[in-house]
Amino acid sequence: MSFLSKIFGKSSQVSQTNIPFDNPIQVEFHSHLIFGVDDGCQTIEQSIELIKGFAAMGMRKIITTPHIMSDFYKNSKDNLFPLRDQIRAELKLQNIPIEFDVAAEYMVDDGFERKIAEGNLLTFGPNGKHILIELPFMNEPPNLSSALFELQIAGYQPILAHPERYPFYNNERTKFHELKDRGILFQLNMLSCVGYYAKQVQEAAQYLVNNRLIDLVGSDAHHIKHQQILQDVLQNKLFHKVCEAELLNNNL
Ligand SMILES: [Fe+2]
Repeated sequence: MSFLSKIFGKSSQVSQTNIPFDNPIQVEFHSHLIFGVDDGCQTIEQSIELIKGFAAMGMRKIITTPHIMSDFYKNSKDNLFPLRDQIRAELKLQNIPIEFDVAAEYMVDDGFERKIAEGNLLTFGPNGKHILIELPFMNEPPNLSSALFELQIAGYQPILAHPERYPFYNNERTKFHELKDRGILFQLNMLSCVGYYAKQVQEAAQYLVNNRLIDLVGSDAHHIKHQQILQDVLQNKLFHKVCEAELLNNNL
């Protein structure tokens, strides 16, 4: 019995399929795999276990994205690069063939615009200008518009992490279109496809996929349980549908 049928019973099977599906995503770019720096992996053993799992899913590259927040997770290149290098060394030692790098998931908070002004942001992508941002779950931050403007005039390409997860957009779907019209890319959490977070989140995911608003997908994996559920995601019809779009993951 799959994880989903255990927690949701038969109804979840409606959106699941048994048809063989080759995962087309080769680059995973939203996860929390640097040990001991946020609410993700806490030991190097956990980091390696999850990275092995992504390699088994056919990923050729991981760009992991620890939280950076002004008041809580004060990560930077200074502490993250040595840990990335330690994980790379262990991957080499264990002959795990996968490219591994680190960027960040920046919270749009009070201190974010100061970070933009300082430069030195943890970015990725073909021109090194893509940046992953997240919003607080309670309210849309008052400085969202100005922060996006400052990112864009500085030449960055903002990617909004999991737009489907913000409750304040539940009754304001037009906000999705406004952000897209401004050139913001959207990243869907793979786990949202199977209703892992909440029914409303799954419904927002359906809206985003059906309206072709998704540009990239990510696991947002924090621990092994998330990765185990990804096996169900690979058999999910909504995930198959988003994979029909021209996703940008494999260009990162
Ligand atoms: Fe995340």
